[in-house]
Amino acid sequence: MKTILITGGAGFIGSNFVHHWRKHHPEDRIINLDALTYAGNPENLTGIEEGANYRFVHGDICDNELIPKLFEEEKIDTVVHFAAESHVDRSISGPEAFIKTNVHGTFNLLEAARNTWANDSGCRFLHVSTDEVYGSLEADDPAFTETTPFAPNSPYSASKAASDHLVRAYFHTYGLPVLTTNCSNNYGPYQFPEKLIPLVFINALEGKPLPVYGDGKQIRDWLHVADHCRGIDAVLQNSHPGETWNIGGCNEWTNIDIVRLICRHLDELRPADRPREELITHVTDRPGHDRRYAIDAGKIMRELGWKPEYTFETGIQQTLAWYLENQTWWERVRDGEYRKFIRQQYEELAI
Ligand code: NAD
Ligand code: DAU
Repeated sequence: MKTILITGGAGFIGSNFVHHWRKHHPEDRIINLDALTYAGNPENLTGIEEGANYRFVHGDICDNELIPKLFEEEKIDTVVHFAAESHVDRSISGPEAFIKTNVHGTFNLLEAARNTWANDSGCRFLHVSTDEVYGSLEADDPAFTETTPFAPNSPYSASKAASDHLVRAYFHTYGLPVLTTNCSNNYGPYQFPEKLIPLVFINALEGKPLPVYGDGKQIRDWLHVADHCRGIDAVLQNSHPGETWNIGGCNEWTNIDIVRLICRHLDELRPADRPREELITHVTDRPGHDRRYAIDAGKIMRELGWKPEYTFETGIQQTLAWYLENQTWWERVRDGEYRKFIRQQYEELAI
């Protein structure tokens, strides 16, 4: 039995992981620590009840009194660290929060683990990171492997790279039993509608412009969030400390093709007067926009037997159906802060 601290467990991937862990490891006690920023939503945790094996703590990973206290009080032996500022566009308009949470917050968690876990070889600290730390690929470059040098290009990816380096240093210097996963773009239920897939889907449903940055030929490698959670689980159960693991879908798409795919699906599910592709609007490109990401997931496939269960076709259909069925969920998250962000980010569209 583990006592697992899940940070950021009210966000998109974190909440999916709480549901995953509850289902597959019901005997373990989960402590879900989340600051409930704009991206954290207790409604993502519907069906998870407070009790002997679940506690929600509303708190900040940067809080250097709360975190060590929580480690002691709850006898945490496993950390799965999702909490982060995660949106690249927000890191461009306001980088400071990214440095605080992603760098300082990770440092604070590592310190608490180091000070509490002396010589306990059964403990694990799994740091959830991103493929963006590797930078941008040219069209014919090979995909990122675990040994690709870091070359982050946005304040977000630089802050994640810094946290990855700290995690690595705590293994080499202090022997802290850490693991790091670097995953490609996730999609699926509970994704906040600032990210491409839910944003485009909701705008298309409402007949609003579909903002495509620049020429829309940038490439991302998409993975269903449930497959990411299964990958993290596999790493946590089977990896030696100190290792890093790439997780990805071998599923590269240009942004413009994703937007067209969403339009086609929605036209079938909810026919409109005219094809929704007509709503596509090219807008000013993201500054420093990475051209292509692609993950080589060969190591986790070979060594841990992990592979994605969703095809992109089944995953997108399931995801769009979820957003259609859960309109109340996404209408509620579009509060004043969200509206302000959307107005500023897409100023030229006047939406
Ligand atoms: P998200 O923005 O949806 O959720 C982040 C969560 O962290 C929110 O619940 C928020 O309230 C919480 N949080 C933020 N700052 C906090 C703080 N200081 N203290 C405590 N909680 C705080 O993010 P996500 O998309 O679910 O990403 C989760 C993790 O996975 C991040 O570390 C991200 O870098 C990584 N990742 C994301 C993707 C992706 O495609 N979304 C891909 C690879 C890796
Ligand atoms: O690769 C993993 C990363 O994926 C994670 O580390 C990040 O936390 C996560 O946010 C995501 O980053 P991206 O920047 O790739 O995701 P986003 O959904 O913001 O954008 C996907 C692509 O679509 C990107 O090339 C930018 C483009 N885009 C995005 C938005 C929001 C548009 O063209 N228009 C838009 O309105």
